[in-house]
Amino acid sequence: MEDEVLVSYSTGKLHKRRRQCSCLPVVCFTSLIVATCYVTFMYIFRKYSPVESDFDNEKFLYNERNFINLISVREFKLAQPPAPANSQCDLVDENEKFDCFPESDASQMLCEKRGCCWSVPKQVKKWNPIPYCYFPKDFALYKFVNLTVADFGATGFMKAVYSSPYPNNIQLLKIDVKYETETRLHIKIYDPVNARYEPPYPEVPVMNSAAKNTQYQVDLDKTKTGFRVIRKNDNKSIFDCLNVGGFIFSDQFLQLSAKLPTNYIYGLGEHRSDLLLDINWKTLTMFNCDQPPENQKNLYGTHPFHLAVEKGGKSSGVLLLNSNGMDIRLQPYPAITYRTIGGILDFYFFLGPTPSDVIEQYTELVGRPLIPPYWGLGFHLCRWGYNKLDNVKEILEKNQAAGIPVDVQWNDIDYMDRRNDFTYDKVNFKGLDKFVDDLHKKGMHYVVIMDPGVSGGEPNGTYPPYDDAIAQDILVKDFTGNKPLIGRVWNDKSTVFPDYTNPKTVKYWMEQISRQQREQFKYDGMWIDMNEPSNLVDGSLTGCPNDTLESPPYVPAVVGGKLRAHTICMTAKHFKGYHYNLHNLFGMSEAIVTNFALTEITNKRPFIISRSTFVGQGKYSGSWTGDNVAVWDDLYHSIPDVLNMNMFGIPLIGADICGFQKNATVALCQRWYQLGAFYPFSRTHNSNDCVAQDPASLGKDVIDSARKALTIRYRLLPYLYSLFWQAHIKGDTVARPLFFEFPSDVQTYSINKQFLWGPALHIIPVLTEGMTYVKGYLPKARWFDYYTKKEIVNTGENITFAAPLDTIPLLVRGGYIIPTQDPANTTTDSRKNRMGLIVAPDEKSEANGILYWDDGESIVTYERNQYNYLSFHLSGKTLNSTVDVWKYKTDMLLGSVDLLGIKSSVSSVVVNGQAYKNFTYMSDCQYLHILNLSVNMSQPFVITWS
Ligand code: NOJ
Repeated sequence: MEDEVLVSYSTGKLHKRRRQCSCLPVVCFTSLIVATCYVTFMYIFRKYSPVESDFDNEKFLYNERNFINLISVREFKLAQPPAPANSQCDLVDENEKFDCFPESDASQMLCEKRGCCWSVPKQVKKWNPIPYCYFPKDFALYKFVNLTVADFGATGFMKAVYSSPYPNNIQLLKIDVKYETETRLHIKIYDPVNARYEPPYPEVPVMNSAAKNTQYQVDLDKTKTGFRVIRKNDNKSIFDCLNVGGFIFSDQFLQLSAKLPTNYIYGLGEHRSDLLLDINWKTLTMFNCDQPPENQKNLYGTHPFHLAVEKGGKSSGVLLLNSNGMDIRLQPYPAITYRTIGGILDFYFFLGPTPSDVIEQYTELVGRPLIPPYWGLGFHLCRWGYNKLDNVKEILEKNQAAGIPVDVQWNDIDYMDRRNDFTYDKVNFKGLDKFVDDLHKKGMHYVVIMDPGVSGGEPNGTYPPYDDAIAQDILVKDFTGNKPLIGRVWNDKSTVFPDYTNPKTVKYWMEQISRQQREQFKYDGMWIDMNEPSNLVDGSLTGCPNDTLESPPYVPAVVGGKLRAHTICMTAKHFKGYHYNLHNLFGMSEAIVTNFALTEITNKRPFIISRSTFVGQGKYSGSWTGDNVAVWDDLYHSIPDVLNMNMFGIPLIGADICGFQKNATVALCQRWYQLGAFYPFSRTHNSNDCVAQDPASLGKDVIDSARKALTIRYRLLPYLYSLFWQAHIKGDTVARPLFFEFPSDVQTYSINKQFLWGPALHIIPVLTEGMTYVKGYLPKARWFDYYTKKEIVNTGENITFAAPLDTIPLLVRGGYIIPTQDPANTTTDSRKNRMGLIVAPDEKSEANGILYWDDGESIVTYERNQYNYLSFHLSGKTLNSTVDVWKYKTDMLLGSVDLLGIKSSVSSVVVNGQAYKNFTYMSDCQYLHILNLSVNMSQPFVITWS
């Protein structure tokens, strides 16, 4: 007797039933009769039900449910689709061929069994990416049985007419189309009868009212399958799956393909690639994995969101809100195919129309990024393998003595006692508590690593994190639902995993953190690593059951070939369901709980850097790009990696400066510290088997380079902080690609070796060994050299910038005013210094800028109105400020103003009505430098010159 799975795993219920027929012929016969009756009944029901007309949906659903309750939808046998006519196959152009056989064992026979077309390209090269087995024109497994268009959008029901090759096809589907805002459309396709799994995070707003005046319309047609999203103002279709072949909705394989409006597609992370995605038959797999960044591999995070930019700049975005493992395939039509192994098809469309608008609309839905504490924007010193506290102290002191600004010291797992969370090595790290206190006295901060699993191998009663987890019953369970799943990460014997989806875990995690802070040392932030979750044994120490969660009918192209590779069993049970569904949310759930716990315990803004991420995680944590390598190619790739995370709403992001794996060289680190000084999150870190790569350990050349770049970073921190505030309230990116600011300039679309901080600072790093100049493209605008202040003659061509080994080319964009502050060796000290303004005029001699300022560490300062907000305006020969909000009491003095592009000589400067003598004008650079000012910024000021 065989077991048969009847009920959806994705609903969270694992039901198996014994197959009766093989041993009980009588039952079998009876079943056959009953089944025949059901089929007849269905036929009559279909024939006489008014499903083809516009009748009441609720009534329809009621009828449908009654019917479906009589027979299990999954038991009803659907016919396979008929073989396609030749004409249906011939009509499909190469780039329009949607793969009907994504598994590896395609053959003509198996392909045709699926109702698909088989054609071997005439010129078979070594490897041809164009599918041999593809969907014929007008292929449809479902048809609409009812469609009601209403003010709010539309509702429809689709009925399966044929079976897909995957088991448990969902026979009735509902499609809800909701006009959520003028620029956001929500289309959800799901099983209306049996609730299926939907990700509990991010919490997206539920809209009770429908938007009017939408910028989109949805094309739905009862005679076709799918839908098309059209931008109203130019009638362009931005996502077209109307009659696009291959729509499948089975229990563990859901597929939808759509034609896209442009070849310029970005996002779909987390992956190692250029910024502009390669749409030439590329599969991007999303299944969070402890995998160092390499092309074509699924990495630490999942973000099924893309940004599409059309020539001319009109942009749109699409999110598939689904946390199951999936493959997303791009093909040159241009088109996209989503293949996910569970959940529902829950799509959001964002109409832009600019790239920035799309990201703002996206983060409005999934959650706006947090503002980090101000110190979190300082420089962070870290490595795995200090091994002793004395080494930590020595290296920190060496760097400080070399004039490297350092705000934060970190420790990796070597501070722990046998790599167990919530312990520390009392021999090698003796005195850690005092060390941390001393850091705090110097205005510095301390961050520790925490792995998501705690040791499961300590003697009873000796390790509270385990004992408490058992007592409070908060661990992830194995398939039985009774026993903790036991894996092994860094701990000596075994590791068990708190279940961060369990509400009880919040208390547990808080208790562990507070105990450690009380009894050991007071860290200021947490580095939550290995939370894909990583597991050094596949599944668990005792294996995993053999079933369709562990081995689903379709396995995305994951590293290791099976879902449980390097992680826990898919049958593991969390409070909110099976690991199969929740895997991609593990890191996010840990970040949410950690954010809450740290906020409660410290009553300050939490600083959290998480390796694994999911949609909307920027609200709870930052991230870094994982275990990169100390090679020049990884130096380059850090730029698209950082820009991508900004597009995903996680602006607090950086790569390990100098690379994590392999020994870094002086030449590489000279350049990497320069670029790393412009990561929104700036940290050096490397592995325990590599040489020290902090600036001081690498000698004078690296020290000079790092000090120069980091000092500029510290000077620009008020600007960077204000950008984070804009990200928090509006969803802007902090580090952004050039095309975000120049969307109509097609030349910017593929640029990813240069980038911007906000709209105003342009960074053009050297990414090649030995070069002392770099070529960069300047979009049409006025640009000024940050160092010389001189305007750059913009020829619209690639321009060569001098880049001596200690210098990273930086440009300021005309039309903007950048707030600055005199740097110091920590942000605690720099925040006491005088402010400055860099004023770069546009063609009309105008410029604008803002400053957001608060105490840099209290929670929800903006929401509680405990901040200052100033705006600055240049018009002709007048610079003035407006104090829009001044609710945070602080002394803030303006000390200097750098006015660029001042064409005529200046002989007098007037500050708030008083003549001011302390200025210099450099005619060769057209630069007016007003210095040693002492202007109270809590009041509006006016500065003029002539
Ligand atoms: C993996 C992390 O990616 C890396 O940064 C860290 O050093 C090691 N785990 C050890 O904790």
